[in-house]
Amino acid sequence: MINAAIFASGNGSNAIELLKLEKDLRNIKFNFLVTDKKNAGIIEKAKKFNKDVYLFEKENNKLEHERKILNKLKSENIEWIFLAGYMRILSSDFINHFYNDYLDQAKIINIHPSLLPDFKGKNAYEQAFNAKVNHSGVSIHFVDAGIDTGELITQKELPLIKGESLENFKKRGLKLEHELYPKVVKNIDKFIETKCKEDIYEI
Ligand code: GRF
Repeated sequence: MINAAIFASGNGSNAIELLKLEKDLRNIKFNFLVTDKKNAGIIEKAKKFNKDVYLFEKENNKLEHERKILNKLKSENIEWIFLAGYMRILSSDFINHFYNDYLDQAKIINIHPSLLPDFKGKNAYEQAFNAKVNHSGVSIHFVDAGIDTGELITQKELPLIKGESLENFKKRGLKLEHELYPKVVKNIDKFIETKCKEDIYEI
């Protein structure tokens, strides 16, 4: 049984898609939800799942902030973290606490709304839209100390439709995110077993 946490800062729509899986999966429990924003969508949305969300608001001292989160995660025996629109960059110190020798990765996974390594960082849909690319996509990757630089697990392309608005593009992108992230979680045993070392998983 994987004892996992979800970290979310925004609307929480990806976090909810992961929570919906719990009833059908025997191998994973999302026992710990974290946000850094007191108005984060996940706080309200998680109530439907009878889950509390722990609020750790930003502090000037980043290491202190992370230490508080870490202490709680340790006391809850959390092994895996799924980032779902969490808007803080985790320090290498924090990430190293989740490093797993067998995987040669930290057990922290993120979803990013572009075909990495293109359009890292914030507002990736806007970045891709403004760059007028033919297609962008969604990536799921391990988290390392860089910004959206960790090893890829899977990617799915999202073509831009000629003449569509940014809003429409984002809406379609989010729909793809909601399909892809649960698939990764459902396949997590497979990723662990194969050490996530195949090029990029087609799922
Ligand atoms: C998503 O586009 C995610 O890929 C990005 O932030 C957004 C969060 O959306 N990292 P939500 O909070 O899950 O609705």
